[in-house]
Amino acid sequence: HDLSHANTMALACMADTVVTLTNETQLDNFMTGYLADNDECKPLFVLSGGSNVLLPIKLHATVLCPQMRGIHIIAQTQDYVDIEVMAGENWHDLVLHTVAQGWYGLENLALIPGLTGAAPVQNIGAYGVQLEDYVQHVRAYHLPSKTWQQLSAADCQFGYRDSLFKRAPNTWLISCVGFRLHTDATRILASYGDVRTVAQNYATQQGRTQLTPADVMQAIIDIRQQKLPDPQQLPNCGSFFQNPIISQAQFSALQANYPDIVGYPMPDSMVKVAAGWLIEQAGLKGGGIAPIFTHNQQALVLTNHSPYLATQEDVANAQSHIAACVHDKFAINLAREPVWVNADATIGQSKYGV
Ligand code: EPU
Repeated sequence: HDLSHANTMALACMADTVVTLTNETQLDNFMTGYLADNDECKPLFVLSGGSNVLLPIKLHATVLCPQMRGIHIIAQTQDYVDIEVMAGENWHDLVLHTVAQGWYGLENLALIPGLTGAAPVQNIGAYGVQLEDYVQHVRAYHLPSKTWQQLSAADCQFGYRDSLFKRAPNTWLISCVGFRLHTDATRILASYGDVRTVAQNYATQQGRTQLTPADVMQAIIDIRQQKLPDPQQLPNCGSFFQNPIISQAQFSALQANYPDIVGYPMPDSMVKVAAGWLIEQAGLKGGGIAPIFTHNQQALVLTNHSPYLATQEDVANAQSHIAACVHDKFAINLAREPVWVNADATIGQSKYGV
């Protein structure tokens, strides 16, 4: 099974077996016949929208693709609505749908590629909002025990680009995510970057002064379209590195040499540094190792200029080159953000570490 069109980085990948799931019973049925200790059973690997994975050229696994659909209202008051969204729903379409219904909260997460079921795995976040701010529960199948479980938001142990699901790879298959969204059309979060200014333009064009969540969503769509490459046109998997978190002391020392360095204060005297800025200052905006280059509008994104032919190895080469240049200049280690999948479906380390 060719998966090169099933990952947004468009890396060449052939998998042994692919099983598409359109309802939960199909998974029960599949797992009934699956014995992990049986030599004939391949390891399992869960693939959602493929927008945050680096797949190997040969994947010796049974790939489970959760594609259940449906958006259901669970409870509704004047102030909020609780919905359950099945894993196969396209994330951006969900954001558009909820805002159109007057259900707010997800608007800052517009235009993030991928499917809803993967959103909790790395606790997707953008423009001041993280998924965890609106998640109520997650329904997931625990593969080792072959049981369905309902996890509360606390159970999910969300962190920056992190969760229980990310820390225990190949353990959970998420089938449904429950959200509590609000209905207050005056409540918005527009403090990040240019969001307020761009949103204000939309409102003004329509003769309004009060910003709505729809204005914020439109602003974020615009900003993302300007900076971030569309995976359909230029394959990529979003931010390739995490924004590193360093001590205030190290940040101040860097600031003395580089007054323009971009950082955001974090708890415990730590500072989150913009990795895109570090990469650009290391002279690597648009740079890399062919055919993998950083994007010329946003150096944090690696793009694949040889779709369906480039391999995981090519990505590792570009990654190690970029990380080495940044380390030489700033003494900061950049950690990879997307998930590295080995040929046996284990998750982990490229040969260059992180
Ligand atoms: N910057 C540069 N040069 C660059 C890129 C960025 O100088 O080439 C500077 C910008 O000028 C800005 C700062 O770095 O001052 C931050 O840039 P940006 O607003 O584009 O955000 P980011 O920190 O690079 C993070 C997320 C994105 C998310 C945006 C907006 C991570 C790893 N990335 O990027 O998430 O969309 O903030 O909230 O946290 C993703 O995870 O795939 C992703 C795209």
